[in-house]
Amino acid sequence: KEIEFYEEIDSTNIRAKNWSKEGAIEGSLVIAEKQNAGRGRMGKQWDSPKGEGIWMSFIVKPVMSIEKIPQLTILAGLSMCYSIRQVTGLDIYIKWPNDLVVNNKKVCGILCEMVKVKDELVVVVGIGVNVNSKKFPDDLSHATSLYLEGKKLFSRESIIKSFLRRFEENYKIYIETGSLMNFIGDYKNYCINLNKQVKIIEGQQEFIGFVRDIDQEARLIVEKEDGSLISILSGDVSV
Ligand code: BTN
Repeated sequence: KEIEFYEEIDSTNIRAKNWSKEGAIEGSLVIAEKQNAGRGRMGKQWDSPKGEGIWMSFIVKPVMSIEKIPQLTILAGLSMCYSIRQVTGLDIYIKWPNDLVVNNKKVCGILCEMVKVKDELVVVVGIGVNVNSKKFPDDLSHATSLYLEGKKLFSRESIIKSFLRRFEENYKIYIETGSLMNFIGDYKNYCINLNKQVKIIEGQQEFIGFVRDIDQEARLIVEKEDGSLISILSGDVSV
């Protein structure tokens, strides 16, 4: 596997997208100490100070249809959840679709982006984990780090290694079975949204619902206030 390491970069996702156009093979990984233009979902910025976290992106070339890409993000989130639990012993949970939280505060986010390279579909999976950050700006009160929650410093390398091993294993199973069926049980165990109220923001619309279930494709089954059920595909909305 090929790895690129940067002391400083705009965004590892941008680099991974460009690298894939230059012919990077599946599994290629970009890691940075610091990002100057880290991006989160929905165009938000993602703070990535030097040495404080895991800022990385890797390239997957899945032989699957575009609609299944959100499932890949679910798999990456679940894999990271297992790994952080294993390395830190902290009680990490998943906030649907793939934020990882401790004590309801966010420690990890995932941004998957797709690129077409000569008719081939390439997915860049970008993961940010706040590992050893000691404080956050006031406007990031919903954010935390593994250090702040576990009260000790953790090895970024151990988490990355554990994650890569696990994701590779899980990805193989996912491709073989063509579905998330082997993972949804664990996903549901770790997901904090199940049987809770949620506010769904869909474009300009906002509504309150109750999460009744999470289906085999990791869609939320939400009961609206009028009693009707709808299913929400990860990737479409934020909770
Ligand atoms: C989110 O909004 O929750 C997703 C955050 C994703 C951040 C990671 S850090 C490494 C990679 N490079 C980026 O610019 N973003 C992702």
